[in-house]
Amino acid sequence: MCGIVGYVGPRGDGKALEVVMEGLARLEYRGYDSAGVALVDGESVATDKRAGKLANLREALTETPLPESGTGIGHTRWATHGGPTDANAHPHRGGEDGKLALIHNGIIENFHALKSELVAEGVEFSSETDTEVVAHLLARAYDGDLTAAMREVVQSLEGAFTLLAVHADQPDVVVGARRNSPLVVGLGEGENFLGSDVAAFIGYTREAMELEQDQIVTITPEGATVINFDGTPAQGKRYHVDWDAAAAEKGGYSTYMEKEINEQPQAVGDTLLGRTDEQGRLTLDELRIDEDKLRQVDRITIVACGTAAYAGMVAKYAIEHWTRIPVEVSLAHEFRYCDPIVSDRTLVVSISQSGETMDTLMAVKHARELGALTISVCNTHGSTIPRESDAVLYTHAGPEIAVASTKAFLAQITACYVLGLYLAQLRGGSYADDAQQVLTELHDIPGKITELLDGMERVREIARFMADTRSVLFLGRNVGYPVAMEGALKLKELAYIHAEGFAAGELKHGPIALIEPGQPVFIVVPGPSTPHGLHGKVVSNIQEIRARGARTLVIAEHGDTAVEPFADEIIRVPSTSPMLAPLLTVVPLQVFALELSSAKGLDVDQPRNLAKSVTVE
Ligand code: F6R
Repeated sequence: MCGIVGYVGPRGDGKALEVVMEGLARLEYRGYDSAGVALVDGESVATDKRAGKLANLREALTETPLPESGTGIGHTRWATHGGPTDANAHPHRGGEDGKLALIHNGIIENFHALKSELVAEGVEFSSETDTEVVAHLLARAYDGDLTAAMREVVQSLEGAFTLLAVHADQPDVVVGARRNSPLVVGLGEGENFLGSDVAAFIGYTREAMELEQDQIVTITPEGATVINFDGTPAQGKRYHVDWDAAAAEKGGYSTYMEKEINEQPQAVGDTLLGRTDEQGRLTLDELRIDEDKLRQVDRITIVACGTAAYAGMVAKYAIEHWTRIPVEVSLAHEFRYCDPIVSDRTLVVSISQSGETMDTLMAVKHARELGALTISVCNTHGSTIPRESDAVLYTHAGPEIAVASTKAFLAQITACYVLGLYLAQLRGGSYADDAQQVLTELHDIPGKITELLDGMERVREIARFMADTRSVLFLGRNVGYPVAMEGALKLKELAYIHAEGFAAGELKHGPIALIEPGQPVFIVVPGPSTPHGLHGKVVSNIQEIRARGARTLVIAEHGDTAVEPFADEIIRVPSTSPMLAPLLTVVPLQVFALELSSAKGLDVDQPRNLAKSVTVE
């Protein structure tokens, strides 16, 4: 996490502060514990940095403006080493003359050893961060060439990092370096940019350049030069960014999350787009994997975290049903440490909105080391996880700015369905016919989400009425189980309310003791056509808790009358194939959490203690 921006333009244009602050505003979702900027003004480097949100820094800069400059860097922090204080905020200065400033995203794992070395040399530290160590190392290595100093210093660093540095003696230069952390170059006319992602500079240019691992980039007003950590020249991959600044704005909604919930029909539709041929069969040439290799897959492991892992749980039910290949879902941070069973016929599917989640990245790397075939389901072009995988299936949800994931979740589920249906198609057999029918229904889902979103007023009323609730339970079975888990997670992270999701059948094995009169419980009911009589079983589960006084909030298909006698509230969803239901049943739960959070006056887009992209393990 942490957001990073760098800018260099014509000397004297004085634009650096404006560009950097705008970039930070767009990257604030990556961390908002503190923010800071450094501007090069010819003789020296001027900095200001403040704990708290970007607004604090903005206010400070209004009261005490920094000198105008054409070169600058800026940082918005999610604290790792050292608390969220002014002193620990970035940039950090290096050297006795303070001519060098550095910002950092990631963790320098060997910083204790490096710091001891510097302390022994008499270097004094003014923060508790790992970053300041690098600032001093850079200042020590600097001999008139910041790129050369960066190259020398990165050799001694262990861990994950994106670093950006400026030096007063090279006023037209910003140098960046990356290992296991994101950094993108923005290419302008007579000005160039660096950012944690393209949102940092999208208001100025849509021409971008990807960097590989272990590379250093030097930007000046004239251009960008890339070298590898070993000093050999390298070529960044240029690309055009196909969304504009307006796409990253709130578009008339009061929060990004509300906007993103309303973009879900499009996120699902766009993720399906271009993936079927004229005969309605799936074509995934983009994977560029030999079809025989995919046919030979005999085991699938899905690795992901948080909401993405719940998308993986939905995928497990679907892929196993359609392909008969055993699928397990492993929380990415557990995968590496559980001695996973992986062979060259194992397919490891990672799911990540950001493509930068360190836990997931490390799981993918481990899977590859063990010989697995790896496919990344990802929403962010050019991010690290797809690049570290054998293949990528992009979700097309567009930029997701709100910290709590919504539209990316639906797009992830959709992409996993596409992958599962494609594998079923490749393998043939009786389930492939079933899969073909599901694909047709999948194309109707965006319209059904739109219909559902149009009828959410009662859900909002219920949420406002429940603003003082202290605990909410969520129940579901089969694909409704991960939906229940996701409903609980949304409520925890947005409204800071105790919430738990359970497999409805599990309740009687213990958690039913939690039910007391008035306890609100959401129940995600499968459609009446769900095989094996599952619908009836869930209706019985509702009766069990209602009998003990629970307030039952039932999510059920239109026309499902069986739930009526046992429901205090019924939230209706359009009917669809049982396997696709999560794309609809989760929507009211997202709206519920959003509205309840707003009713409590909380920050919907940036809940406390969270960051959008978790780039530490
Ligand atoms: C919850 C949420 C997180 C992310 C998780 C993985 O609303 O957004 O649980 O799903 O941190 O993030 P990505 O998908 O970027 O790997």
